[in-house]
Amino acid sequence: MRRVLRGIDLPASVRLETGPGDLLRLGVDHERFGSAEVYLHGAHVTGWTPPGGAPVLWLSAQSHFRSDAAIRGGIPICFPWFGGGPADDQKPSHGYARLRDWRLVAVSEDADGVTLAFALPVDDGDLPLEATYRVTVGEALGVALEVRNAGEEAVAFEEALHTYLAVSDVRQVAVEGLDGARYLDRLGGPEPVVQEEDVIRFAAETDRIYVETDAAVVVSDPGAGRRITVAKSGSSNTVVWNPWADKAHAMADFGDDEWPGMVCVETANVRTGAITLAPGETHVMTARIEVAAG
Ligand code: BG6
Repeated sequence: MRRVLRGIDLPASVRLETGPGDLLRLGVDHERFGSAEVYLHGAHVTGWTPPGGAPVLWLSAQSHFRSDAAIRGGIPICFPWFGGGPADDQKPSHGYARLRDWRLVAVSEDADGVTLAFALPVDDGDLPLEATYRVTVGEALGVALEVRNAGEEAVAFEEALHTYLAVSDVRQVAVEGLDGARYLDRLGGPEPVVQEEDVIRFAAETDRIYVETDAAVVVSDPGAGRRITVAKSGSSNTVVWNPWADKAHAMADFGDDEWPGMVCVETANVRTGAITLAPGETHVMTARIEVAAG
């Protein structure tokens, strides 16, 4: 543990602890900002609960907590590719970032919240992309993924903050903000489809990559009496996903009955929205998750 913390002072609101699977995590407990947990494995935020509220992020009770597996729930960082990548031929699924131990590089606290910063070291065989991730636990949960091309040639990459939101029942929620937007239906043909409906409602497996949208998305959840907003910057795609019963059943780290309790709203740059960085260039993608009664 000392190695992780060398030169970094933790404020009283932050503790370093060992979670399931012996994975190290940072726990935040703050009177004004609530609580959160972030694993070094994947720089993975697994929980955020505003003061007096309910958990905003969904985490599977069947998740693996192993150094060779991704955590199921919270906010996996998909990087430097999404799924199998643009040609669907890359492994592991969603890139290597969520399987690696990130380095804790800074912890700070001010009037806006508690901020934890992590860096992903470039290993042999990696793309020459240095990634830094900042998680701010404040009135909102803020996450920012900064990527710098440390190589000598232009590099293209994909990225997604694969945010699992906790809902009362996905069949009763509405996702607002994407009316009129175009999406690639990962369960349909290759041509983009226009969303004609005002809101998305869920009645089957849903797996959509919305393109060319910088809109904030609201998950309206009357059953939970709340509205969750995901606002973003530096991102042209939003992915909306629920696996429904059969796909959930096929996943070893997803409980058979858990799928109604979640929906993913992912802040992303994937496929035609992939980012290309010139040598030395930097790109930042952010998401801000807020909760209001409603
Ligand atoms: C979503 C994809 O973002 O992630 C889905 O759109 C995929 O197609 C899902 O099934 C989960 O991926 P994984 O690799 O975490 O099982």
